[in-house]
Amino acid sequence: MAPLASLSAAALLLFSTVANAHFTLQTPPTIGFDDDKEGTGPCGGFAPDFSKPTAEFHVGGEPVGAKMLHPQAKWLFRATLDEKASGNWTQLFPIVFQSGLGEICEPAIPAPESWVGKNGVFSIVANAPDGLLYQCSIVKFVSGKGEVPSSGCRNASSISVSFDSDPQLSALVTPGGSSGGSSGSNASATTGTGGKGGSPTTSGGSASQTSASPGKNGAGGFVESSLSVTNMLVVAAAGCLGAAFIL
Ligand SMILES: *[C@@H]1O[C@H](CO)[C@@H](O)[C@H](O)[C@H]1NC(C)=O
Ligand SMILES: *[C@@H]1O[C@H](CO)[C@@H](O)[C@H](O)[C@H]1NC(C)=O
Ligand SMILES: *[C@@H]1O[C@H](CO)[C@@H](O)[C@H](O)[C@H]1NC(C)=O
Repeated sequence: MAPLASLSAAALLLFSTVANAHFTLQTPPTIGFDDDKEGTGPCGGFAPDFSKPTAEFHVGGEPVGAKMLHPQAKWLFRATLDEKASGNWTQLFPIVFQSGLGEICEPAIPAPESWVGKNGVFSIVANAPDGLLYQCSIVKFVSGKGEVPSSGCRNASSISVSFDSDPQLSALVTPGGSSGGSSGSNASATTGTGGKGGSPTTSGGSASQTSASPGKNGAGGFVESSLSVTNMLVVAAAGCLGAAFIL
């Protein structure tokens, strides 16, 4: 009817979009998305359920597509053979810094060759202005290279992408080559894996091969859960700020 009414409807829509959405994992398929729980590690509030169909993850490079609804974020790509996703995470690719809202597509995220034939959990973690945000996929690792799907994996024209480092994200993977039982608080130990200037095709794959410490990864889990309460508060505050800014 009146332009005013539709304008405020649009504003409301905008508000709810900004206030609620953090990021979505488009491909491989997510095991679940809930705005309110996305800050809860390791999988955004959902538990992997291997009685459900798994997606294929090609160890020679799998396309990973996500849509960021914050102006910037850093991305961690990780996976574990632990079907409960409780730990033993291997970093698959250097940490990527995205500037600009919208879709991002990394066309070839590699995984260790030795994982072929096994089930595991793939996870993408964003370090966004409102904290760490988590999504997971249940996958079966297969050989070869995945094909970029015709939808769900593209770069928005407005984004720019570079490699970066991030101690908070690096703390969420098992440091390659370090002995088991390390405190997990020494995040700087792993930053070499995803350092600036790393080559996209080689550094992630080879760095991830180093043997991960067996046994529990309790420290990492602790870090995640203790962060989540703070995250929820920050999420709420940032959501309001973001909406106010845009309106
Ligand atoms: C998206 O951008 C990144 C960084 O420039 C690039 O490596 C990647 O190949 C792009 N993805 C697609 C599907 O073109
Ligand atoms: C992390 O480990 C490195 C190498 O062992 C050490 O030099 C550094 O002091 C440690 N940092 C912290 C905060 O423990
Ligand atoms: C941890 O991951 C490595 C491969 O990265 C695997 O060899 C090892 O068996 C895993 N340990 C546990 C406890 O899942």
